[in-house]
Amino acid sequence: MAKKTVNDLPDLRGKRVLVRVDFNVPLDAEGNITNDRRIRAAVPTLQKLLDAGAGLIVMSHLGRPKGDPKKDAPFRMNRAAERLGELLGRPVQKADEVVGPKVAAAAKALKPGDVLVLENLRFHPGEQAGDPAFAKRLADLGDAYINDAFGTCHRKDASMYAVPAAMAGKPRVVGLLVAKELAILDKLLSDPARPFVAVLGGAKVSDKIGFIKALLNRVDKVLIGGAMTYTFIKAQGKNVGDSRLEADKLDVARELLVLGREKITLPVDHVVVQKVDAPETATVVKGDIPDGWVGVDIGPLTRAAYVEAIKPAGTVVWNGPMGKFEDEPYSRGTRDVAAALVACAGVTVVGGGETAEAVEEFGLADRMKHVSTGGGAFLEYVEGTPFAALSQIEDK
Ligand code: 3PG
Ligand code: MG
Repeated sequence: MAKKTVNDLPDLRGKRVLVRVDFNVPLDAEGNITNDRRIRAAVPTLQKLLDAGAGLIVMSHLGRPKGDPKKDAPFRMNRAAERLGELLGRPVQKADEVVGPKVAAAAKALKPGDVLVLENLRFHPGEQAGDPAFAKRLADLGDAYINDAFGTCHRKDASMYAVPAAMAGKPRVVGLLVAKELAILDKLLSDPARPFVAVLGGAKVSDKIGFIKALLNRVDKVLIGGAMTYTFIKAQGKNVGDSRLEADKLDVARELLVLGREKITLPVDHVVVQKVDAPETATVVKGDIPDGWVGVDIGPLTRAAYVEAIKPAGTVVWNGPMGKFEDEPYSRGTRDVAAALVACAGVTVVGGGETAEAVEEFGLADRMKHVSTGGGAFLEYVEGTPFAALSQIEDK
């Protein structure tokens, strides 16, 4: 069902608009933002609302705070608010609380064009508990509600569900980012251009069982890479040496190989090292990986085969790196796949999280049809899990 978007809103001049964004960005040990993609992705919606004369109350979670103010300090929203101010080119106020009299006063004082960023929603226990009383306090701040937090759409946290539920009767719409993500994924799920090729990597089979099963029903080919490779080839009875392995997932891997027997392609060669942090020992093996060696990337034959398979695709979905791409000597597989997507004339969609970060690091993000801001949300949507949060948004 198509959802109303910010393009369907009534006149907003002088209104206060509550906008749920996903500013859950990666941080370094000091709490500096190492990738601001999710903040940048929310700017078109925020700018549109500001141009329409609204005052904005912007709210997000950041990280997984534990309720210890000292340890949680890096998860305060200050830096995200600062970055947002730079991107919008206007001052942004930051509230030091999530709810309370100070927040209510600051929200009330908002004038057209003002922006107030609330403190990390997860600093309040009501957020992840989905507490309606907490949600009501947020809901009372705004005349309208916008969900532009695609990356969090698979969560039923208060700000995603109970807040819009408490605002029934007021405008409740999705932002431009959520609308775009849904349009691209809906098309890919309902009417993909063929051949439809999925490239799947990452460390664990266990994180992606539902995703792989869902894709097997839809795609023509699945190319496997990353550490999950070793669980699959071990399940085939091959030796994987000392490679990372999910020993308790061999049965699942076998089941997936049966389900996908005409579709799944596994690597035929591997870059292996004796110790992951000693790149000078890197070498390539075909077939089995000898004891004492650890697989860190797909090998050259596999890279070439995957590039060939991607070339004619009408649609490519990619989730999960092909190897330890953060170490330059083991980044070839991931780089070659990224370059193959760029060269492909079809619709190329990259799942969020690590894969999106890899593509950005290679400077190729703008050359994909779409790089999702969703990690878990991207996987769950493709799996076919409906987003409860969207049930609180008005239908077109
Ligand atoms: C994400 O990055 O997956 C979203 O921001 C949701 O965060 P969470 O996985 O901690 O709930
Ligand atoms: Mg997550």
